[in-house]
Order: sequence, then C-alpha cells, then structure tokens
Amino acid sequence: MIFKPKIIIEDNPVSLAFRAADIFVQTAIDSVEKRTSFSVAISGGSTPRAMHRMLGEEPYRSNIPWDKTCLFWVDERCVPEYDHTSNYGTAKSDFLDKVPIPKKHLHPMPAERFPEDGAAAYQKVLKAFFRIDETSFPVFDLIFLGIGTDGHIASLFPEHRSLAEKERLVVAVKGGNPNLTRLTLTYPVLNRARKIVFLVSGNGKSEIVKRMLSGGQAGFPAQKINPVKGEVLWLVDRDAASLLSKAVLVNKIK
Ligand code: 6PG
Repeated sequence: MIFKPKIIIEDNPVSLAFRAADIFVQTAIDSVEKRTSFSVAISGGSTPRAMHRMLGEEPYRSNIPWDKTCLFWVDERCVPEYDHTSNYGTAKSDFLDKVPIPKKHLHPMPAERFPEDGAAAYQKVLKAFFRIDETSFPVFDLIFLGIGTDGHIASLFPEHRSLAEKERLVVAVKGGNPNLTRLTLTYPVLNRARKIVFLVSGNGKSEIVKRMLSGGQAGFPAQKINPVKGEVLWLVDRDAASLLSKAVLVNKIK
C-alpha cells in the first residue's frame, strides 16, 4: 500500500457506530457548506446497520441536512426490496423511513431489472446526477465500505473480472455470501470519492484488517482502494484491530 490510511480504533461495536454516525453528520455539514449538497454511497452487509439505525434517531436525525443529502448504494443484491437480503430494503427499515429525506434524493440500484440493464441504468443515473459526460467519473463526498474476510469490498470479489473494469461505473456480478447476482460500483468510482471510510467490526475481521493495513501481499480487492485525491479512513473496533502491530498503529488517530 503506497498511501497511509488513517486508522481510528473504537472500544466496541456501539462506539464504532456512534463514531461512524458522527463522521456521516460532519461530512454532510462540511459538504453542504462547501458545495451546497452532500452525496454519499452506503454499503450493505451487517456492520453498517447499527450506524444506520442511529442516523434515524436523535440527535443525528435532526443534525443531518437531509434536504441536501443524496443517497446512493455501493452495491445491491438483485432481489426485490422486500427481500431480507436487499441492501435498500434493509436501509429503508433501519433509517430511511424515519428521516425527512426527500424521496427523489434516494437512488437505490435498480435490482429487479435484468442485471446488465440495471447496471447500465444506474450508470445513467450517476452521470445525470453528477452532470458528467461519457468519459468522466462521479466524485462522491463520502463512501462507506465494509470488507469481507476474503478482502472483498462492495461486490468486487477476488479474481473477478469486474476488478479490472476501468470505464463502466457500475457492473453486474455473481458471487458473495449470499451467493447472488449483484450490482456494484467499480474502482473508477470508488477511487474518486473525497472520503472513503472502511467500517469494520469483530474478531472475525482481525486477520483481513491486519493483512490490509500491514502492507505487502497485494491482491485483495480492498487493496485497490487508492483514491486519486481523497482520503481513506479505517474505522475499526478493538476486536477487528486486535492483530495490528505497533508499527501499523503509528497511523492511528484519536
Ligand atoms: C454487501 C456489501 C459487502 C459488505 C461486506 C462486509 O452488500 O454485501 O456491501 O461488501 O460490506 O461483505 O459485510 P458485513 O458487514 O456483513 O461483514
């Protein structure tokens, strides 16, 4: 890894979720101040759910400029919204139904179309929202990523050809757990974000966190997160950080 990501270690999953929610709020406020709006892409999986639930409650609910917030997804499983594996459906019940975000600011991935069509349609949504031409890429204010024990991020899985995508913003892939057809943002989008936050919790992730942050052994999908201009923050709890060495912890911030 060439860049030095910042690392924040929280005591437990609850303080981790509070810290992530604080970052969401602060980045929203800063982005609105600088650019009049806030664009954020969120991940699925279980780890962000505690943060999402907090965003739907006070004080976060009132502190986020929802009328200026535009929400996108990093990836989606190709299932209906009511399916319990739907990232959009889960976020909806965790917080979106509880906050005053205008419906037109919600941009779920079109999970019920033929996957290749859904990917192309979401690419169009992104190009239109960010007002960019055919050859340009969107710049999100904030992207939250989780990581799998195999080093996958979003739905970019090890050794899949989607890892080599350089032009399309969104692709359809098959894989993961649950093993489903999915839509995912690609590296050209992820790596242009102004801020990327990896949110990682639990002992089960300690080995991959160590491998990611100790350098060497390139090859995990998460190791191709190397922003063009933005910053990367690893927000991990004590269990997930338990195998990190002192040498790595020099990058730790409060
Ligand atoms: C998804 C993801 C995926 C997730 C990791 C970690 O929709 O599955 O966005 O990349 O972030 O698999 O998931 P957990 O938080 O459940 O460990």
